Amino acid sequence: PSVNKLHRTGFHFQPNRNWINDPNGPMYYRGIYHLFYQYNPKGAVWGNIVWGHSVSKDLINWKELEPALFPSKPFDKYGCWSGSATILPGKGPVILYTGVVDKQSNEVQCIAIPANASVPLLTNWGKPDRLNPILTADHRMNGSVFRDPTTAWFGKDGHWRILIGGKTGDTGVAYLYRSKNFLKWIRAKHPIHSAKRTGMWECPDFYPVSLEGKNGLDLSMMMGNNVKHVLKNSLDITRYEYYTIGTYLQNQDKYIPDKTSEDGWGGLRYDYGNFYASKSFFDPTKNRRIIWGWANESDTKEDDVKKGWAGIQAIPRTVWLDSSRRQLRQWPVEELNRLRGKQVEMKNRKLKKGGYLEVKGITASQADVEVTFSFSSLDKAEAFDPNWENAEDLCAQKGSKVRGGVGPFGLLTLASKKLEEYTSVFFRVFKAANKHKILMCSDAKSSSLNRELYKPSFAGFVNVDLGNNKKLSLRSLIDHSVVESFGVGGKTNILSRVYPTLALKEKAHLFVFNNGTEHITVENLKAWSMKTASRN
Ligand code: FRU
Repeated sequence: PSVNKLHRTGFHFQPNRNWINDPNGPMYYRGIYHLFYQYNPKGAVWGNIVWGHSVSKDLINWKELEPALFPSKPFDKYGCWSGSATILPGKGPVILYTGVVDKQSNEVQCIAIPANASVPLLTNWGKPDRLNPILTADHRMNGSVFRDPTTAWFGKDGHWRILIGGKTGDTGVAYLYRSKNFLKWIRAKHPIHSAKRTGMWECPDFYPVSLEGKNGLDLSMMMGNNVKHVLKNSLDITRYEYYTIGTYLQNQDKYIPDKTSEDGWGGLRYDYGNFYASKSFFDPTKNRRIIWGWANESDTKEDDVKKGWAGIQAIPRTVWLDSSRRQLRQWPVEELNRLRGKQVEMKNRKLKKGGYLEVKGITASQADVEVTFSFSSLDKAEAFDPNWENAEDLCAQKGSKVRGGVGPFGLLTLASKKLEEYTSVFFRVFKAANKHKILMCSDAKSSSLNRELYKPSFAGFVNVDLGNNKKLSLRSLIDHSVVESFGVGGKTNILSRVYPTLALKEKAHLFVFNNGTEHITVENLKAWSMKTASRN
């Protein structure tokens, strides 16, 4: 069957056709990046889940291979669900994944081993019967909420460790298991961490970050000095993720979050938009940690079936600890820049209240934009009402067209010529008790004339001090049905899925705008037409 290309991406990862969800087992092995993903080989809706498999030399151009894991055994008859890869020193990679054993979706953990670890493509995976399942829920646990094993790390006591997501009652739990030989796993008495009223923890991810600089750390540095730790969980009730920064106490095998952000629904997020079930891995070639995350469609199921595909992966992002040590920062992997083609630039352009300017000369439906806005005063900033707890509600209420003091200003992406359609990505500055609150929005409300779509006003606050540097910067990756934005050097990030009906291909436009009374300067804007990545 053919697929509808209209809203397909030019440089975001997607397979040739069909449904995808979570990224699984990302790794770099013998010169090749591997990406596996939850995949339905039979259609564009969730079901029949196998591990799709694609390989790349640069994280941007991909080759799709045959699925690596598919239901073939009693222990994974109803699906090969999410999991992780671990590269065993001197031996090569193994995969731990969740096998679904029955229609009630009881879950067990399984191991898959490459038939030949010296073949870098890793196309052939075995699931030894004598080993599998390697781990089952014990009778006190609910086996239908017990899944998504992490990459394993090796402790100083000679034991391997993994986390598995679950819940008891409405408490989200990351169970800890230990093993001497990677085959026989024993549950630790205490989970590594849990949090009340967060519900099921899907796809936990746990890793060290270094206190200084942008370099990532391998899991062998889990017990290193000068590190902090990150625990991320995906909450299946609302399908968003949150993370905390904290400390892993090795002797007690416990993770203690710093109290610098909420350990729950209001916690920090990698992305305040459409981004779920993410997983990180360490890339030894560039000493960086990279996060993959899934962005589903905001379109109807019927449309997904009609177009023959659903789901993309966000651009892989380098992740590191911000110098405040209170949050992470993320930035698209540098390899993406190789797709940059024709470039246009704007310098020191004033935008008065209600002003907007078109950025001409690039393919605005497939582009990369970096822009820095500046303003000379914060005096006109609107007062922040302390009742505004939820950034999304605030963005919905104060969209790009609602006049403000300092802001709203930003980009109108995927815009039709007469602005019947546009996805606005913008900032708005508020004056709070003793500081400023900066709201970043990616508002899909006007993104399409199609009424059947989910068009959320995604938003998050940006933690930045505007004291002596009255500037805000933004990078947006625009890719037909995706606008993926990075605020202030990757402090607050928002991915939106949108489906314009007019602002398609050559008919898409890009603008900068200001709807605040304070004048704004576009200090510097660079925009590039992006080439199409190969993904076949
Ligand atoms: C997250 C998730 C995982 C599960 C997989 C099934 O999106 O629900 O918890 O393993 O997807 O496809």
